[in-house]
Amino acid sequence: MIENSFMHVKWAVNKRIQPKNALKDLGHFSYEKINNVLPFQKSHKNYSNTPLVSLHHLANEWNVEAVQVKDESQRFGLNAFKVMGGIYAIGQYLAKRLDKPVEELSFEKLTSPEIKERLGNITFITATDGNHGRGVAWAARELGQQSVVYMPKGSSKARLAAIRKEGAHAGITNVNYDETVKLCARLAEENGWVLIQDTAWEGYEDIPLWIMQGYAAIALEIIEEIETNDVQPPTHIFLQAGVGSFAAGIAAYFAQYYGADHPTIIIVEPDQADCFYRSFLTGKMKTVTGNLDTIMAGLACGVPNERAYRILINTAYAAFSCNDAIAALGMRVLGNPVGDDRKIISGESGAVTLGLLHYLFMAYPRFAQEHLQLDKKSRILLINTEGDTDKQRYRDIVWKGAHSIRF
Ligand SMILES: Cc1ncc(COP(=O)(O)O)c(C=O)c1O
Repeated sequence: MIENSFMHVKWAVNKRIQPKNALKDLGHFSYEKINNVLPFQKSHKNYSNTPLVSLHHLANEWNVEAVQVKDESQRFGLNAFKVMGGIYAIGQYLAKRLDKPVEELSFEKLTSPEIKERLGNITFITATDGNHGRGVAWAARELGQQSVVYMPKGSSKARLAAIRKEGAHAGITNVNYDETVKLCARLAEENGWVLIQDTAWEGYEDIPLWIMQGYAAIALEIIEEIETNDVQPPTHIFLQAGVGSFAAGIAAYFAQYYGADHPTIIIVEPDQADCFYRSFLTGKMKTVTGNLDTIMAGLACGVPNERAYRILINTAYAAFSCNDAIAALGMRVLGNPVGDDRKIISGESGAVTLGLLHYLFMAYPRFAQEHLQLDKKSRILLINTEGDTDKQRYRDIVWKGAHSIRF
């Protein structure tokens, strides 16, 4: 009998995963499609590829061949990956309105007086834990448009202030994330605003797909870099999930690109919002309700994006449900590297995958080897999806030791 639960972590194998050579329906994430996403993202003057950092000493410590971390805290100066989805979705939306292919548009063209006049004033609205809303607010402002952003109850005031600084009309509701999404959908309908939401439901699928394609461009950047540097592709990718759009965008791109040889994909969630873990455990899509109370604000979503769910149920090998101490551990390890490994500033949602691996390698190395096939030939890829997006909380954890762990 495989142990399913440890002190800080539970895990479930996905029994419905498809054989790697039988994957279908990933056409939206083909090289051709995703290669067409990047030109619009790159058209902003602040675009630059984010670093893919090799942590050699940590790999030694864990007894694996390689550990690579794509550091999205460097993205567009916004401290998180999310804007990659938001700007592409807004670009696609405007392209459809103008009846032009998005790859022919650029930030410069969209802000030209002629196009601005054709488009008129548009208000984009979204619900967010922080990072997505900041990306949408930033993109709207850069395109000379307006935005309205709502956050769930208990959201960080620092993250709210960062969104307001991007020019959004923003506030915190007194309901959870999933209810805040419903509120924004209603406000969009009532006011003729455009909802830019990263989760799909019946009748609302184009924009969430564009957001996922925007994230998949991060996978394209990673593969281009490893191919240019003649580095072997990863054997394992650990991806953090809220509604799952990010994980599914990355997983889908790797799965279609490498086909039968695609890396093992593992989902990581907070234990207070572990809808993928519960779905893998039972074989049916599950949701989590209530306060979703976790320091991993970016992952505090209890309802999977249905398209993301369909992709991950076919491609992901397992899901882990972690308590807050695992995320805090990851933040400390990334911020205090071994030897001359590069230091990475990572926030709660960004660090949970590394925290999980460190915990498993230190406390349960046999489990990691036997059940995840993590050994000296493994090459692990992680994505640091955010930096210190709440600086006070970062210090509380890394300096003062909040959410400490013993093992
Ligand atoms: C920092 C960070 N990481 C990961 C995620 C997860 O993305 P998704 O909700 O698409 O699963 C989010 C979502 O907001 C986030 O802010």
